[in-house]
Amino acid sequence: MEPRSPPILDAASFRAVAELVFEHTGIRLAPGKEYFVVSRLGKLLRDTGCSRWEDLPDAILRAGTRAREGLVQAVLTLETSFFRDGRPFQALHEVLVPELARGGPVPYPLRIWSAGCSTGQEPYSIVMCLADLLDRGRIRLDLLATDLSPVALERARQGVYDPWELERGLDEGHRARYFEPLDRGRARIRADVRRWVRFRRHNLVAGPPPETGFDVVFCRNVGIYFGPETLERLHRNLTAALRPGGVLVLGAGETVSPELTGFRPEYPCRTLVYRYTAEDLP
Ligand SMILES: C[S@@+](CC[C@H](N)C(=O)[O-])C[C@H]1O[C@@H](n2cnc3c(N)ncnc32)[C@H](O)[C@@H]1O
Repeated sequence: MEPRSPPILDAASFRAVAELVFEHTGIRLAPGKEYFVVSRLGKLLRDTGCSRWEDLPDAILRAGTRAREGLVQAVLTLETSFFRDGRPFQALHEVLVPELARGGPVPYPLRIWSAGCSTGQEPYSIVMCLADLLDRGRIRLDLLATDLSPVALERARQGVYDPWELERGLDEGHRARYFEPLDRGRARIRADVRRWVRFRRHNLVAGPPPETGFDVVFCRNVGIYFGPETLERLHRNLTAALRPGGVLVLGAGETVSPELTGFRPEYPCRTLVYRYTAEDLP
């Protein structure tokens, strides 16, 4: 039998699918991203029984929550690693937290939000980089980690990583101290690291932040998938989550939306972070 050729994704169907993706995730698929739709959503097209791309949006709406979740999951990019880009973690440990401590123990639990935490490497890196301060009772920590992807969150909660994930960003000392070996080269992050992190599902652009009053918000490599309007909404939500004087940490090469005032750039450990001064906000 002749193999069936994949259906053609015409411009109108691409626009309709892109609109649906935008509505549910804030991710803007600009023209030119047709390959992305075909590669990420081809399975969903088959699973929903559609033979043409133009039928997919209606089929997803008809099929309900499960198909919508399938769409969201298929378009999210979960790429991450332990201690990604290094310097923000160094800055947290060497400058930002000592600043709060002012020579003594921080008098309240340090509130940190890892927004768009993917499979957990970012929040667990935060705990590992602060472990000496936690162990010596210099700080207490209240760390919230959120993501839109339930698949990523489930993996993050489990804290089980494959050998290639354990190779990225960790040295032998980290692996020995913070992980329990499992079968086939996998390892699980220890319970005494896991216990510091509260994982929760949250869509960063669908409503207000899940909590407020954070000392530090990490939101790295999330906004890169959004168009300018959604990016501004994201940054306004992150701003609302910070306490005055708190710090926003974006990904390498990311900057706050130009519409937003009330931030002062700072360069601890030669990395750009934004101090929220809460002045002149429109
Ligand atoms: C490329 S990963 C970055 C992970 C981590 N912050 C890092 O820098 O390594 C982007 C993450 O953002 C999440 N994400 C994308 N859109 C989101 C949204 N609207 N709300 C919450 N999380 C979202 C994805 O599920 C994914 O886990």
